[in-house]
Amino acid sequence: MIKKALFTTMLAFAMGSVGSLAFAEDVLISTHNTSMLLRANEGESLKIAYYGARIDRDEIAQVWQSGLAFNRAAYPSFNTNLLDEPALEVEHADGSISLDLAVVNVTRKTTDKGEEVRILSRDKVYPFEVVNCYRSYTNSDIIEMWSEISHKEKKGEVKLMQFASAYMPIHGDQVWVSHLHGCWANEANLFEEPLTAGMMVIKNRDGVRNGMSDIPEVMLSLDGRPAELSGRVIGAALCYSGNYKLRIDTDRDGKFLHHFIAGIDETASQYFLKAGETFVTPEVAFTYSTEGKSGVSRNFHRWARLDGKLHNGTAPRDVLLNSWEGVYFDVDTERITKLIDGAAELGGELFVMDDGWFASKKYRRLSDNAALGDWTVDREKLPDGLQPLIDHAKAKGLKFGIWIEPEMANWKSSELYDKHPDWILQYPGREPLLGRGGTQVVLDLSNPEVQDFVFSVVDNLMTEYPEIAYMKWDANASIINYGSPYLPKDRQSHIYIEYHKGLRNVVERIRAKYPNLVLQACASGGARAGYGTLPYFDEFWTSDDTDALQRIYMQWGMSMFYPAAAMASHVSTVPNHQTGRVVPLKFRFDVAMQGRLGIEMRPSDFTAEELAFAKQAVTDYKRLRTLIQQGDLYRLRSPYEGKGDVASLMYVSPDKQKAIFYGYKLKHFAGHTVPPFRMAGLDPDKNYRLHELNVNDEGMKSMEGTVISGHLLMSQGLKLILDKEYSSRVFELTAID
Ligand code: DGJ
Repeated sequence: MIKKALFTTMLAFAMGSVGSLAFAEDVLISTHNTSMLLRANEGESLKIAYYGARIDRDEIAQVWQSGLAFNRAAYPSFNTNLLDEPALEVEHADGSISLDLAVVNVTRKTTDKGEEVRILSRDKVYPFEVVNCYRSYTNSDIIEMWSEISHKEKKGEVKLMQFASAYMPIHGDQVWVSHLHGCWANEANLFEEPLTAGMMVIKNRDGVRNGMSDIPEVMLSLDGRPAELSGRVIGAALCYSGNYKLRIDTDRDGKFLHHFIAGIDETASQYFLKAGETFVTPEVAFTYSTEGKSGVSRNFHRWARLDGKLHNGTAPRDVLLNSWEGVYFDVDTERITKLIDGAAELGGELFVMDDGWFASKKYRRLSDNAALGDWTVDREKLPDGLQPLIDHAKAKGLKFGIWIEPEMANWKSSELYDKHPDWILQYPGREPLLGRGGTQVVLDLSNPEVQDFVFSVVDNLMTEYPEIAYMKWDANASIINYGSPYLPKDRQSHIYIEYHKGLRNVVERIRAKYPNLVLQACASGGARAGYGTLPYFDEFWTSDDTDALQRIYMQWGMSMFYPAAAMASHVSTVPNHQTGRVVPLKFRFDVAMQGRLGIEMRPSDFTAEELAFAKQAVTDYKRLRTLIQQGDLYRLRSPYEGKGDVASLMYVSPDKQKAIFYGYKLKHFAGHTVPPFRMAGLDPDKNYRLHELNVNDEGMKSMEGTVISGHLLMSQGLKLILDKEYSSRVFELTAID
């Protein structure tokens, strides 16, 4: 029986014009601005009818009557519809691959953040069940969907062959997809294309870092070519840190219906489910906005910050100095002390000692090919250990952070491997394929002992040095050896999934014990940006490429889904170590101040003039960090569009009293004029006073103190002189009474 008492918004209504659907049980799930409508008739397959702008209960009938209702299986399964892409495909204990799920009941409950709806369906023949779950939020326009799969088949295990989190039909003949693609040092480039007949697949099979090529988030613009500030856009984010697959299948009967299916990639991952066990898929978070791609971004950012999808999402992020590009592996007391002094002089708040600080009796970390896994201080480099450095940082007013890479080891060049050769993932009977430095291997996180070890890397450091405030958690190798010494031979296909269950177990333990330790997710750069990771991590390292010009493109891409508070953006030296490009210090600061500002160079390399500039920039950033890290993002001019010669964006405070505007010239040709920058998100009825930041030229003072209305700034814009390659302008806007 459907539990009518709990089913508060379920309606029964006559459907005069829809003949056979004479009586229907509809489940309406809403956020402030969006709604999803499901039809859960007992004994029938669960249907999705609608997803988009918020509708009220009295509009439910109209959705059906207008012919707009999708009326599609909400969780398409193999066999009942052989023609469509399945979200679920299983092999029953008796070998049959048929499924025919019918709704049994619906439960709803109010949570502290919104509402949770669970719809149980059972196969008409087999004791096989799926609960389709939905979670809506009152703070943010997000509805998460996931599935819980279980059975009680007596003949044995059920093999899960496809087990997506969720399905979403998308109507429209002009639907475009926006997604991010990249590689090491060139992450998160924005790609946009119209959906045409056939299937588009966005996937990742790195095994460890699932943002290494594509990122498991997309936007679908329903009104043609995607726009930043207008148009209906659906956003979807798969909250999973492992291999995934997003499919968009454009229907054979024309281009008006697109089937979007998101979930764990099943390649080499068939999952054997015992009777009584439940397989819980990761959530996929959907959002919808009529305010273009920036609207969808703001929805995701808000959810991340306010609904626990970014760890400590509303806490202010410190300005830090990281040692990597300053000294690389050449860590020693003198160099680190000098970096700490430089960080303090700049006005930094946190110092992070990157790779190179550890060793064992037998192996030292002089490059990336040894000692990984041996997490004790290298006493040759740091004879007095970490404590004097922590104390020195403290004396200078800085917190202390440290780099770790706890999921990995060096093969035959770490004591960890020497002691536990069976702790690494490996093909049985073969020499392992080796990653970074020609010696790196991945630990087998399906093994609880390995999970304990990974936990202990953090726990031991924190126990010995409780003042450590920050850890940069790196991951520089993929699963290229498919085989777990721990899992039984009939469970080898669980490796990819069990790895991420193990990882989650570890980070959950860490979070339970160290809720305030700031963790950065680094994966050779930005490959762990994603909502599978961020609930446990405070930020991600955007890219190993710190070149400010290339960062414009990557940060633009990352901003599509992740808030500025999470995006680590560092000022580095010139010529840039990755590209050799020389760009002005002002441009480097103006770009890094889009996200969580950091410095990644030797401050001693600054001239006196540069140092003064950098100090003022850090001071201004600290004053404005709430606006930047917690503000509403409006992307104005895309570096990916037009001539690609400018980029511009802004953050606005929720009360619209403050804003910060950024404009960049990316390439310059004489005679090219830059049209005015039209702003967005301001209050048209307020007047804003302009204050220019990071001024390094007298000419920039011409607009200082100017007062312009929000209405003019948004309708006409600001005409700015950007007359050189890598010119940039940053303005603070303050509403005046
Ligand atoms: C890769 C990271 O992305 C870098 O920032 C740095 O931490 C190195 N690893 C250290 O080995």
